[in-house]
Amino acid sequence: MTRAFPITAIASVDIQSPDPERHAAFYRDVWGLEPIDHPGDARFFAGTGADPYILALVPGESPGLAAVTFRCASAEAMDQTLARAEKAGCRRIDSPAPATRPGGGTMVDFREPNGCVIRLVHGDQPRDPKPTRIDRATRLSHVNINTRDVDALARFYEDVLGFALTDRSKIMAFLRCNADHHAVVLAEAPVEGLNHIAFMLPELEGVMRASGRMRDHGYDFGWGVGRHGPGNNVFAYFVDPEGYVVEHTAEVLQVDDSYEVGGPADWTWPPGRTDHWGIAPPKSETCKAAQTAIGFV
Ligand SMILES: [Fe+2]
Repeated sequence: MTRAFPITAIASVDIQSPDPERHAAFYRDVWGLEPIDHPGDARFFAGTGADPYILALVPGESPGLAAVTFRCASAEAMDQTLARAEKAGCRRIDSPAPATRPGGGTMVDFREPNGCVIRLVHGDQPRDPKPTRIDRATRLSHVNINTRDVDALARFYEDVLGFALTDRSKIMAFLRCNADHHAVVLAEAPVEGLNHIAFMLPELEGVMRASGRMRDHGYDFGWGVGRHGPGNNVFAYFVDPEGYVVEHTAEVLQVDDSYEVGGPADWTWPPGRTDHWGIAPPKSETCKAAQTAIGFV
């Protein structure tokens, strides 16, 4: 049994790109996404699944998280979510309007209290999925957001956006809007911003092969390969050419309302261990620094 969520998926992420040509080449040739032809300055990329796009590179002077887009269950769910956000003091950036983006639909933007632009979309048209390829992302898995106050932002996600808390570790809150254990993770940090973006691969073998493709192109692991505690997903973290931390992940735990929310005491490791298997080497200093280096646009 699971509740009816007003937001049903993380649809896409917009990131700012100082060198869109180089950045786009990375996401096409190395990370393995499909460029989508579309008029305008932004460059759109799809996975193999039905989402019209999952990543947008927006030209800009410096890296920054420009928006996180969530898909709403219905037009009413979008209106009601927007109304709750405004009541909670969020500044609306525009009014709901037809989207000039792949898939179309209706979109509206507002800024949440931590500073991130949230974009709601409803009625965007799915594309015909491509055949699944084991080493290519099917869709987004989650976005991880840095905040100084994890509990306050988690309450916002629950009360305003209608997410459900699935787990709380010492420094992170895991929140879901569908059967995936988490679509959003909030991480305690000294600065607000983007921690990382995670892309869903079909299975563990795909994470390994996609990691090999990264190594072939000269990108070494930032962290991983390993298996996370909360969510039980396998992971491999890398730092992209503009300094964004990106994760290949798979096998995310599927949950419903019967899931027992864990607390910090449930998610501890023996000293020196950072993953379920106990094989992930320590996170690289480059990756650690990159995880708190990207602010909000
Ligand atoms: Fe992650």
